[in-house]
Amino acid sequence: MTVTTSELARTAEILSRPVALNGLTVPNRIAMAPMTRMFSPNGVPGEDVRSYYARRAAAGVGLIVTEGTYVGHESAGNSDRVPRFHGEEQLAGWAQVAADVHAAGGTIVPQLWHIGMVRNQGEPPFADAPAVGPSGIGVDGTEGVGKAMTQADLDDVIGAFAEAAAAAERIGFDGVELHGAHGYLLDQFFWAGSNRREDAYGGDPVARTRFAAEIVAAVRAVVSPEFPVILRYSQWKQQDYRARLADTPQELEAILAPLVAAGVDAFHASTRRYWLPEFDGSDLNLAGWTKKLTGLPTITVGSVGLDGDFLRAFTGEGAELGSIDNLLDRMERDEFDMVAVGRALLQDPEWAAKVLAGRTDELKPYDATALKTLS
Ligand SMILES: Cc1cc2nc3c(=O)[nH]c(=O)nc-3n(C[C@H](O)[C@H](O)[C@H](O)COP(=O)(O)O)c2cc1C
Repeated sequence: MTVTTSELARTAEILSRPVALNGLTVPNRIAMAPMTRMFSPNGVPGEDVRSYYARRAAAGVGLIVTEGTYVGHESAGNSDRVPRFHGEEQLAGWAQVAADVHAAGGTIVPQLWHIGMVRNQGEPPFADAPAVGPSGIGVDGTEGVGKAMTQADLDDVIGAFAEAAAAAERIGFDGVELHGAHGYLLDQFFWAGSNRREDAYGGDPVARTRFAAEIVAAVRAVVSPEFPVILRYSQWKQQDYRARLADTPQELEAILAPLVAAGVDAFHASTRRYWLPEFDGSDLNLAGWTKKLTGLPTITVGSVGLDGDFLRAFTGEGAELGSIDNLLDRMERDEFDMVAVGRALLQDPEWAAKVLAGRTDELKPYDATALKTLS
């Protein structure tokens, strides 16, 4: 793919504009999407993780959203190689990551994560910890395989998110992203398929947002007013790609409003293909609708620069290069504010620099072997 001078000027103009997320000014519109990499033994991000992120910041990524990192609750995860966002050694490792990204000219937020019922008891890092979720229903729909969370459990998890957010600000991160997407704990509350509670945390869509809204409010209460709190959410679930939280803009608005009221500063609307309209009768994608309905900055994502969606990455498949014209058209109309790039940035740490400089002939298709190393 060669690029004409006017195409290059347009790309640079659209993607190089700074953008404000609450008190943070991100130097451009390109974010790195959060991607679990499992290169942090004992939950500690080390030297290789630092240079992995710093390399991308140095090559034009304005905002790094880190891989999902577990909050300090023993049931939060299921791997000893996923970084944790609690514990002295773990946070010292993260502080270095943030410092290196800043030195490279980027900004960085950790993605705070609790996997809920995706966990199976017996798995690391805390083998005895039960799987917990809104109703104890397994990801395959089996009832009774985990613990339906008590009020004390809810309070513990809310506290763990708040503590992690406070730590993020203390050790030099620029904000936090709360992982409310893809069928993990917060999303298990959002979705009627996994939330059968009959108390104040279950029932209609607004009641199902209550847990996440309380987390947002608790986070907001412990960080500075200007510290950005981003919420990532999705319609699709890992266990059900066709699941939807909202079938109409009105339903979406009802879900988002309490989250905005609780203090979300920006939404990261996770879709698998950014060019697909979310609802009938409009070309807007999920991030576009989220911005229109909330007035807040939004981040889009999904197969940017590639032609096939990311689930294929997990079956070892690659993806061909795709044009970003449609993305630029949408950004020119301010449909959304930022774009997160996943696999294309895994494949090539210099993806952003190459796109911004028109060196697109140097881009290579996504090859799933990129997952094997942290380069
Ligand atoms: C290897 C891999 C790990 C991922 N891990 C996470 C994660 O920890 N948190 C998350 O919200 N999304 C995760 N995702 C989804 C990405 O953030 C992104 O939404 C998805 O890859 C689509 O973007 P892409 O088409 O540009 O790759 C992961 C994706 C990949 C390929």
